[in-house]
Amino acid sequence: MAREDWQEVGLVDELGARELTQVRVKGTALALSFKGGQYHVISGACNHEGGPLGEGRLDGDYVVCPWHYWKFHHATGAGEPGFEDDRVPSYDTKVEGGRLYVNLVPTTPRHKNPHEPHPLARKVERGEGPVRVAGLSTTVMDVDHPRYSGSDDLLETALRHAEAALGCETELIRLRELSFRHCEGFYSKAARACTWPCSITQMDMGDQLDRVYEAIVHWADVVLVATPIRWGAPSSLYFKMAERMNCVQNQVTTHNRVLLRTKVAGFIIVGGQDNIQAVAGQMLGFFGELGFLFPQFPYVAHSRGWTAEDMERNVAFVKKSRELHEGAEELVTRSVELASRLLAGEGTPEHICRGGRKAHRMAETEA
Ligand code: FES
Repeated sequence: MAREDWQEVGLVDELGARELTQVRVKGTALALSFKGGQYHVISGACNHEGGPLGEGRLDGDYVVCPWHYWKFHHATGAGEPGFEDDRVPSYDTKVEGGRLYVNLVPTTPRHKNPHEPHPLARKVERGEGPVRVAGLSTTVMDVDHPRYSGSDDLLETALRHAEAALGCETELIRLRELSFRHCEGFYSKAARACTWPCSITQMDMGDQLDRVYEAIVHWADVVLVATPIRWGAPSSLYFKMAERMNCVQNQVTTHNRVLLRTKVAGFIIVGGQDNIQAVAGQMLGFFGELGFLFPQFPYVAHSRGWTAEDMERNVAFVKKSRELHEGAEELVTRSVELASRLLAGEGTPEHICRGGRKAHRMAETEA
């Protein structure tokens, strides 16, 4: 193998204008730094998920990857202190005639340390056992000073019914009791920067949305989501969770990988004013894109309506409404019946054509 392969990068006058630059030379992505009057080149592909290191920033002597912030020494390519072995290639440079050249034969090779995969990254496999129903409450309230919530009440009724009458295992997750970060837009950096498990989950051990991911992706057969109506929309906690679910949907975009195949979702929507159909439409659209299936009549809902600004009476009505509580029980019954059929082998096919679906690939000639 050739020990030298010098290639021109560009004019030093132009390349020295920036502290860190991503360049591509003969198909090789490089992170070029200019620091203390010296040019240094390391690989432009991060060891983690291939992020463009030259599009990051310099933190002292280290290049910080723009995707998930791994660090590599700008001159040697070594990982940050404590992770020196996890290194990206480094390359020699020289300046001749006002031009910068790089030897594309690396002086040090790439070396990736094995990283224990996150527990959520395991294969999705349904074990033996009764149908499992997860209830997700998205209602916001002060956990130290709880109040009555109509949507929570109906959700708890449904879960009790699933357990007592249908023989299911159940789990109730109240989002308000979890500490979790907002989606920080990894997808906006690049589709592949949005990872499964969620980049935040992998980086922040204190983030508790892993419980929701575990329930939705690995554990539950049925997910019931309960929300109040807030200004004609699901609750803010619902949207905070939904944005963090981007990583589940994005696996289809980046890896053609459908994480959710035999899962059923149903919804409970309760509000003082109206807009039930819009709230349900949002939830159906979003959970449909995640890969969920729906029973016939996939939501139960109640609202007093635009002119009935009497929340006390609305609360009292939901509390004592036998019909609404029976409706919640029947929603979970329909959902469990569908889940049972899916578990018995009536699942979705392995291959589902991407054409026309979200993020389907348009050939250049067709676009
Ligand atoms: S830190 Fe570089 S790709 Fe994740």
